[in-house]
Amino acid sequence: MEKTMTSRVPTRNLALELVRVTEAAALAAGRLMGRGDKNAADKAAVDAMRLVLNSIVMKGVIVIGEGEKDEAPMLYNGEQVGTGDYGPEVDIAVDPIDGTRPLANGNLNSISIVAIAPRGTMFNPGPFLYMNKIAVGPEAKGVIDIERPITDNLKAIAKAKGKRLEDLTCVILDRPRHEQMVAEMRRAGVRIRLIPDGDVAGALMTSWGDSGIDALFGIGGTPEGVIAACALRAMEGEIQGKLYARNEDEKRRGLEQGYDFNKVLTMDDLVSSDDVFFAATGITNGELLKGVKYLADGALTDSLVVRGLTGTIREITAHHRWHKLKNLSAIDY
Ligand code: FBP
Repeated sequence: MEKTMTSRVPTRNLALELVRVTEAAALAAGRLMGRGDKNAADKAAVDAMRLVLNSIVMKGVIVIGEGEKDEAPMLYNGEQVGTGDYGPEVDIAVDPIDGTRPLANGNLNSISIVAIAPRGTMFNPGPFLYMNKIAVGPEAKGVIDIERPITDNLKAIAKAKGKRLEDLTCVILDRPRHEQMVAEMRRAGVRIRLIPDGDVAGALMTSWGDSGIDALFGIGGTPEGVIAACALRAMEGEIQGKLYARNEDEKRRGLEQGYDFNKVLTMDDLVSSDDVFFAATGITNGELLKGVKYLADGALTDSLVVRGLTGTIREITAHHRWHKLKNLSAIDY
C-alpha cells in the first residue's frame, strides 16, 4: 500500500534561524551605542538584518517594515527576502532596533526583533503608525477589553491573577498623550512603570516568567503592536489594539483607505496563525535581555526565541568569535 505523509511531520523551526538575524543586527548596531547617531545605528541594524534574512531558505515578504516614522533606513514593506527558491511562504515583521533613541543616547532597553508568520496572516496597518494597546500574560488572557475603561480592565486583570489592585504593575510609555491614562491608573492605585521607549519589551514582559509586569497599556507603534502580537500568540498572552489617528487628516485618509479606527484588533486580527516565530536580541542592557558585550575577539549576545506551534521559549546566550566568522560571514564584524 502506498505510504501517505502524516500531518504531524514536524516543520522546520525557523525561530532558530531568526535568532541569527537579530543577533547580527544587535552586533552591528551595538557598536554605535551612545554615539548620538540614530540613523547610523538603524542603517547598521537594517543592513545586517537584510543580509542574514536573505540567507534563510524561505519566500519572505516584509509586511511590517519600519522607517517611515523616523525617516530612517528601512527594510521596506513589500520587500522580498529569503533565498526565494524554496521554503515556506511567509510574512515578516521587523523592528531592527526597538529603542533607537536609547541606543543612540547610550541608555537601557534597546532590542532587535523579527517575527514570521505564514503568508497572509499578519495585519497590514498600511501607513498608520500608532495603535492603542492593552497586553497581558496568560493568566489574564480573555478578561481584557480595550473598549472598557482602564479601571475596569485593571480590576479584571487583578481578579484573574488573584492579586490586589495595588500590587499590579503596569507599563506605559512616558508620553504626554498618556497623561489621562496615567491619572486614571493612579486613581485606581496600581503601580506604574513609565518607560521612555520600547513597548514591545513591555508587552513581552507581561508574559515572561518573573518579570513582575502584569499589563501594558497605551499608544505606541503599530508595527510594534503586530510584532508583540506574534510573540504573545506564541507565549499565550493577549494583546488588543485600536488604530490611533494623530489628527483629523490622518483619520480622513484612513477612512478613505478602508481602515476603521473604531475596530478592536484582536489577536486573530493582528496575526491569525499559531505557526509564528519570534526572536529578539538585546542591544543595550535591559530588563528582558542583556545588551551586547564586546570582547577582545568576539562578543556575547543574549536572545529570546519563541515558536508558536510548540510554545517553546528559548533563551540563547551566544559567544560569537570574530576570527572564525571572518571567513564565513558576509558581515564585517
Ligand atoms: P523605535 O526605536 O523603533 O523608533 O521605537 C521606539 C518606540 O518607543 C516603540 O517601542 C514604541 O512603540 C514607539 O517608539 C512609540 O512611538 P513614539 O516615540 O513616537 O511615541
